[in-house]
Amino acid sequence: MKIVFSLGGSMVCPDDIDSDYIGKFSKFSEEISKRAKIYVVVGGGKTARKYVEVARKFNTSEFFCDIIGIYATRLNACMLISSLNLDHSYPPFESIEDASKSNEKIVIMGGTHPMHTTDGVAAMLAENVRADLFVNLTNVDYVYDKDPGKYKDAKKYEKLSYDDLIKILNNSEMDASANNILDLVAAKTIKRSNIRTLILNGKDFKNLKSAINGEKFKGTIIE
Ligand code: UTP
Repeated sequence: MKIVFSLGGSMVCPDDIDSDYIGKFSKFSEEISKRAKIYVVVGGGKTARKYVEVARKFNTSEFFCDIIGIYATRLNACMLISSLNLDHSYPPFESIEDASKSNEKIVIMGGTHPMHTTDGVAAMLAENVRADLFVNLTNVDYVYDKDPGKYKDAKKYEKLSYDDLIKILNNSEMDASANNILDLVAAKTIKRSNIRTLILNGKDFKNLKSAINGEKFKGTIIE
């Protein structure tokens, strides 16, 4: 079984680097890797936003803001690699092709190119390795019709079709460090290859285990 995780930057670096969470995710991935090949694509979180904010003050291009964001994701990926009990460490993979070929027990990478986020990278990686499951770990419990942090009446979705997800995402914008639940590249990729996708809160490891085991869980299924 192959599982690709998109580990949101909001998990590893919400306001500052969350060593407690990274340690817990490491333990969890080591356990899962005993029975599945796993791939983790790490997001940029506050690290990315902080650097991009300063770069924008210098009026740099959006393209270059994306490049800065990519470095931030790789830095966070380095933290996850550091926390694993590996017999050798390695720098995060920089391309989907290299990550796909890797024999590492747990394959870790960050971003690759401008104009998409690490969700897009993770979905394309899932497509290329023909993953059985794509799991997006984020800081909310479900996909909602609007931001549940801002709107009390936000409606949660337990199940969505690929097209419904794309419709919801089409209403949100794409710029460097945009904070959407999944990016459009990811949504279109999972649609064209029919990749079973789960979107759930990355903090609840018990729930995450149930989701991976095909049991009832709290989160959104896209299929
Ligand atoms: P992410 O958007 O993937 O991290 O990358 P995040 O903000 O932590 O998002 P969540 O929590 O995972 O949803 C940060 C920024 O880096 C650039 C984009 O500008 C992105 O917003 N980036 C990242 C790229 O341009 N290409 C990539 O492949 C990855």
